[in-house]
Amino acid sequence: MQVHELVARFAKASNSSNPMKAAREELESLRGDIDAIDEALRFVAGTGGNARQVFYRSPSISLLKVCFPAGRRTPPHDHGTWATILLFSGEEKNTLYRSEDGKLRKASEVTLTRGSILPMMADTVHVAECLGNVPAIGLHVYGGDILELPRRMWHPETLEAHALDLTLYESFAQAASKAASAPLA
Ligand SMILES: [Fe+2]
Repeated sequence: MQVHELVARFAKASNSSNPMKAAREELESLRGDIDAIDEALRFVAGTGGNARQVFYRSPSISLLKVCFPAGRRTPPHDHGTWATILLFSGEEKNTLYRSEDGKLRKASEVTLTRGSILPMMADTVHVAECLGNVPAIGLHVYGGDILELPRRMWHPETLEAHALDLTLYESFAQAASKAASAPLA
């Protein structure tokens, strides 16, 4: 597997009549090739912010390798579009929320392991965290240009809604990682 082959598959999915469904079907078909994809994406750090995670972006789709180190938890955030994750390795707990006028309500939680796929609608808010002692690494597919879409994040303690701002995000992530659990869990 080479990175351009992966990009070609998802670029094609993004041009279909139902890109979210097509991307999910691609991820399902790639479940048996996790080691090959992981190898092809070794050059992507996956930590250090979206700029060190994204390896393809267009107005209709973004592809990221995301690595959550042990002990790392995100603040609640949305993606400004649909998102689907395929986990390669480690264990990643996701706490899912609904937002009503910016106020969060917990909806569900799910723990991903190797081969798990998690689709999230555009209005889903989530917290992702690495469980265990090894990083949680996965392929994240978003239905738009993840560096340009308007997104929201919530302070992990006050749950105040903010526009996603990458300079503020890191302080929110550090506070989220220090907490005993995801908000409202
Ligand atoms: Fe996310």
